[in-house]
Amino acid sequence: MDLSYIINELGEDRSSYFNAVAPPIIQASNFSFDTVEAFGKAFEDEMGGYLYSRGLNPTVDILRKKLAALDGAEDCLVFNNGAAAIFAGVLANVKAGDHLVSVAKPYTWAQKMFDVILPRFGVTTTYVDGTTLQSWQEATRSNTTFFYLESPNSWNFVLQPIKEVAAFARSRGITTLIDNSYCTPLYQNVMKMGVDLAMQTATKYIGGHSDTLGGVLSGSHAQMKKIFDSEYLNVGSGIQPFNAWLLLRGLRTMPIRLKRVFESTEKVLNGLRNHPAVESFIFPFDKKLSAV
Ligand SMILES: Cc1ncc(COP(=O)(O)O)c(C=O)c1O
Repeated sequence: MDLSYIINELGEDRSSYFNAVAPPIIQASNFSFDTVEAFGKAFEDEMGGYLYSRGLNPTVDILRKKLAALDGAEDCLVFNNGAAAIFAGVLANVKAGDHLVSVAKPYTWAQKMFDVILPRFGVTTTYVDGTTLQSWQEATRSNTTFFYLESPNSWNFVLQPIKEVAAFARSRGITTLIDNSYCTPLYQNVMKMGVDLAMQTATKYIGGHSDTLGGVLSGSHAQMKKIFDSEYLNVGSGIQPFNAWLLLRGLRTMPIRLKRVFESTEKVLNGLRNHPAVESFIFPFDKKLSAV
């Protein structure tokens, strides 16, 4: 699907709101029904329509459609921040007695979840260097159900062989989640690489104006429904309509902003490349690393 179409048109039903180019903020907690029967039916499947904005909301839905399309995923849920997206994606897919393998030094609040919260419920984590498939394979146990990737890692920019790790995980029935915040789907389509759940903090590149937080989790309809019916509704960690609207606005300019970030980064790197005080640098798009 064309990128410009996704960010400027997909999901927007302009004729239903006076042909406004900027989508409306549907700042409503709840929605009305013509009959008691229809109201009762809406409770049976909150993902099937608008009932209460802790579940679905029309402004948020426009954003969901665009972000799912950017990821090339069947569906997507948008959270109040990136940490909440990680929390829901992991929690929905582990149970007491499970073992999880994570890349070493993941984002702070992912690591806190693995080290502090999950052990309270009998879920253990092994951290791996993650740069080789072998490191993931060697850490896998009979009770391993989840792989957590972050490539490039946002602390040290080290890469993981995403396709190979995802294929191995799939062959063992292990669910994979990757924090794709650094590259975004514009520069790295992790769904095509076989990952089950693609996560991003929308607070950074999607928002782009330092005025809202947000978190994205994309995957299959089945995964999104499972997470929506449980963690999303239960914790109430979905994004609010106004913040979703800010992200819709941010999305419009995301490709040109990222292009500028890329160009600026190249300039900084060219300055560092031959600087006597620099021993080495890791840049994910460096040609020497592009085979990884
Ligand atoms: C790589 C990465 N993942 C996740 C997050 C969490 O996102 P948020 O701050 O929107 O909760 C951050 C935030 O800095 C991040 O850098």
